[in-house]
Amino acid sequence: MSVPRERYLSPVWRDGIFTSKVLFCTGGAGSICSMQVRAFVALGGNACIIGRNVEKTEKGAADIATVRPGAKVIGIGGIDVRDPKALQAAAERCAKELGSLDFAIAGAAGNFLAPMAQLSPNAFKTVMDIDALGSYNTAKAVLPYLVESAKQHKNTGSTQPTGTGGRMLFISATFHYKGQPLQAHVAAAKAAVDQISHAVAIEYGPYGITSNILTPGPIANTEGMERLSKTDPESSKAEMKKVPLQRYGEVKEIADATVYLFSEAGSYVNGNTLVVDGGQWRTAGAS
Ligand code: HXC
Repeated sequence: MSVPRERYLSPVWRDGIFTSKVLFCTGGAGSICSMQVRAFVALGGNACIIGRNVEKTEKGAADIATVRPGAKVIGIGGIDVRDPKALQAAAERCAKELGSLDFAIAGAAGNFLAPMAQLSPNAFKTVMDIDALGSYNTAKAVLPYLVESAKQHKNTGSTQPTGTGGRMLFISATFHYKGQPLQAHVAAAKAAVDQISHAVAIEYGPYGITSNILTPGPIANTEGMERLSKTDPESSKAEMKKVPLQRYGEVKEIADATVYLFSEAGSYVNGNTLVVDGGQWRTAGAS
């Protein structure tokens, strides 16, 4: 599927900033993560995307590879982030086939809207396992490779011909900043994801690794928003009115934020959260 570059990347970035670098991304065929990977690959990098669905993941990888002649993008399907051994094998294959593993995005998530009254203990546990344990498993699988990458790049902030590496990014949500109906399971899981990122930032900072959280708000043309508008069109319209910028975000705005955090410009940002939501969460409680 050919996606015009202006849909996933602003023209402000310099081509080649990720040349010969490798990104590992769970949930990489999803509507948001695939654009983050696309942007990284367009700017010179190669990538390995991980997913549960084999066909979707392999097709996603083939699509992303079309953004740049010579790009290498591997799609490893059939991997459940709840399975640490499968993730370790995928990280090993990524590093072996692409030569390194320099950046990682823990993007795989499971979500559905459900009132607590209808949320079974297994439903709650399922989302905790995919989002929180899955992000932890991802970090455990990639950190040894990120340590190797960081040794070469140090994240010093100086202009280095070798570029950057050793960067971990967790995809989270703002649900747990306030109370959020129908999302008890996801809010709990994303709160855990945030704490995992903070721990990585502190424990692995001395190795030159940065770990940050990117939190998308309501982003147009994504699986999550589509589901929300189908389940509850009124709530979807109400969500937009709560955004100070009075519009939904674009996937490009998430991809651009990712490029910033992975670029030399983001070298001293560690243990932080970048909320890209048009200011929506600041309006908590506003009618
Ligand atoms: C209540 C539900 C439910 C629902 C599933 N369950 N869907 N309960 N309402 N809509 C319950 C099941 O009944 C079961 O509990 C338990 O959850 C596990 O369900 P399984 O289908 O066995 O789990 P699994 O096959 O592992 O699937 C996980 C999943 C599924 C999370 C339920 O939706 C999934 O794989 N999603 C991955 C893709 C995804 O969600 N992407 C969204 C990312 S977007 P019992 O008790 O019956 O055994 C995003 C942005 C926010 O996160 C979007 C806002 C909506």
